[in-house]
Amino acid sequence: MGIGTAAQEEDFASVLLTEAQIGERVEALAREIAAQYADKHPLLIGVLKGSIVFLADLMRRLDIPLEIDLICASSYGGGSETSGTVTLLKDLSQDIRGRHVLVVEDIVDTGTTLRCLLDLLQERSPASLGIVALLSKPDRRRAHIDIDFLGFEIPDEFVVGYGLDFAEKYRYLPYLAVLKPEAYALAGDDNTP
Ligand code: PRP
Repeated sequence: MGIGTAAQEEDFASVLLTEAQIGERVEALAREIAAQYADKHPLLIGVLKGSIVFLADLMRRLDIPLEIDLICASSYGGGSETSGTVTLLKDLSQDIRGRHVLVVEDIVDTGTTLRCLLDLLQERSPASLGIVALLSKPDRRRAHIDIDFLGFEIPDEFVVGYGLDFAEKYRYLPYLAVLKPEAYALAGDDNTP
């Protein structure tokens, strides 16, 4: 597989995960989740915007009754280091009391976003609260997070594609690429998901 268009190639150091590698892993995660949630009618909560591609692929492979909802929280704002403060930009459209909830994230980096969201959701008394994350950067963790279903542990590099962006670019790519440091250094960013 090529690394992208000529313009993208200039910005990418490498392809971290191909479309096929991601697809295989998502399939395996879906099997694990389906086995544990078959009779639980889970509510999958996608965290906007980064999780939408993962959520769309995952839910189509989960051959069990389920519902989805979306929440939008941001701690990165314009895109450099996490601010440490999470802003809730869009809340859920339904009550989660008594529901088996699975929060779906594209990446757990410092853990700040998820820690805040989990605290918020736990107050609403779900029957259970689990986490599905495609990617985790353990070297960057500041908040303790137990990920129930994890796709890949990845090194501390700036990755884009499959829902993840740099300054809103590259979310549409079907694979995950590593951004060259010089591609984000100009914007004053040094290390974000
Ligand atoms: C990204 C990502 C996670 C969060 C992870 O979201 O989607 O929600 O950062 O970082 P953390 O573990 O350090 O909190 P971002 O705020 O960039 O918004 P986006 O999903 O719209 O890109």
